[in-house]
Order: sequence, then structure tokens, then C-alpha cells
Amino acid sequence: MSIRPVKRLTKSQLAMEGAGVRLRRAFGFGDTAEVDPFLLFDDFRGDRPDDYLAGFPWHPHRGIETITYVLAGNVDHGDSLGNKGTIGAGDVQWMTAGSGIVHQEMPHGNERGQMHGFQLWANLPSSLKMTHPRYQDVSAKDIPEVTDDDGTTARVICGSFWGKRGPVEGVAAEPQYVDVWVPPATRRSLPVARSRNAFAYVFEGSGKFAGASDPQPVKTDIVGGGEGVAADNRSLILFDAGDEITVETRDEGIRFLLVSGEPIQEPVAWRGPIVMNTNEELRQAFEEYRNGTFLKHA
Ligand code: CO
Repeated sequence: MSIRPVKRLTKSQLAMEGAGVRLRRAFGFGDTAEVDPFLLFDDFRGDRPDDYLAGFPWHPHRGIETITYVLAGNVDHGDSLGNKGTIGAGDVQWMTAGSGIVHQEMPHGNERGQMHGFQLWANLPSSLKMTHPRYQDVSAKDIPEVTDDDGTTARVICGSFWGKRGPVEGVAAEPQYVDVWVPPATRRSLPVARSRNAFAYVFEGSGKFAGASDPQPVKTDIVGGGEGVAADNRSLILFDAGDEITVETRDEGIRFLLVSGEPIQEPVAWRGPIVMNTNEELRQAFEEYRNGTFLKHA
């Protein structure tokens, strides 16, 4: 087994989205080759209702999948297929926009004013960009949780991990999406298939991600080189090639999302909520949205 060294560590940056939601963007709208098949990752954890109540009113998507994972508070949603519901703490909504969907996502905090969650965008290959739109709503109780001997715990949302299979199925990019907790004073390796691009996003505690098989200095915004790269809340860690990632904790544990997928390796033409392969396809999508022919499967 070879350890995937840290390729880069960055922090998510403040961004405004929707009708004026303050969130933190870990990546998105740049060169996405390193995170292919993923396009964007937003951290919308907030403790002030003014930062999120404006929400994400009606808007279209085409050519992608959006994955929303809620940790606290609720997101009410509705869409052009007639779906309506609420995603609550621990729940996941996996939306395949395919040929097109128009939806809204309206966050509401819990009794303490907290609205915590993440949204990941996964690209669709050209063969599936115009597939039927669909939703997979997964409630917290249906997400398998495994705890290993050393206390490391994994909630498996999508893909196979430690013999458990997550409830989200039939996703084009075959992503693996796991919520991992590593307890204090632990050195832990976690498998990630070699063919995949992989990243981790830290949202609690701290630890060092190691590239022990490769003593090259590691480029990072925060600390340089050495035995490992120190990561804490809001750190995005991009991994290089290998079979597993390794993290080491000291006096506190670390919680992070570990996400990986098979790269699609196709051209990306992207404007706002629509991601296609060519500019002509983009132009057509926006024209259809304007003239009312955008929805193919309503
Ligand atoms: Co949306």
C-alpha cells in the first residue's frame, strides 16, 4: 500500500450565493481537473440566521448532481417535478439534475439558530448530461455507521467503505462520500482506490495528514513540509496518487468528509448552475430557460 501525499492544503473562502447566503467555498468555478469528477464544494455552516435565511430561491440546474448533507437545522426544498420536503440533521439529498430541474432550497436554523451543512457538486459525463432528473432523499437512520477497534467512526453516505455500502445508488461518478471521525491520539489509514481523485474537508478538531512514503516538502497555505500537514476546521486537503490516506491526531480528534471519484476527463463548459461540455450547449440551455423549454421531464 502506498500513502497518498498531500498535494495541497487550502482553506475555504467566504462567498455569497443564492439570494444572499454567506457561505465558505472550498473549491469551484476554477480549474477542476484535480478534483474531477467534482466541481464545487460549499460549506454553509452558519450560526446567524441573517447569514442564511435568504436561501436559494427558484433556480435551474442541468448537467450535474448536487449532494446536500445537513448536520444541523433544516433545508426545505421544492422542485419542478413536484417534489417537496425537508432535509434535517444527519440527512442527505442527492439530486441528479440531468436534463434539467428548477428548484429552491430554503435553509432554516434549529432552535439555537444553527444551520450547518455542505453541498457538493458532481459532474455528469456527456452521455448522462440529459438523463432524467431524480432525487434520492436519505434519512439519517439509513446511513450505515461503522466504528473500528481504535474508535475511528465512518458514516458511509455513498460508495463502499469498510464493508458497508452507502444508501445513495446509481450515481454516475461512482463517488465515495464518507463522514469520518478519528479520535484523539490516533494514527489512522483509510483506503481510497488508486484510480480516483480524492479530497478531505475538515469540519471539527485537528490532525496531520501524512505523506510518509514521500519525503518531498508539501506545498500548503498554512504550514510547510515535514512529517505531515496540519489541518483544522475548514481545511481542504487534496491528495496525490496512492492507495490510502493517513491522518494522525494528538490531544483532540478530527472529523472530516472523505470524498473520492473516478475522473470523467471531459471538457467543462460552466456558467452558474449549469455545467455542460461545450459553450454551444450552455448557450442552448440558457436560451431554453428563457423561452420556457428548459424542462424536458417535468
Ligand atoms: Co440548487
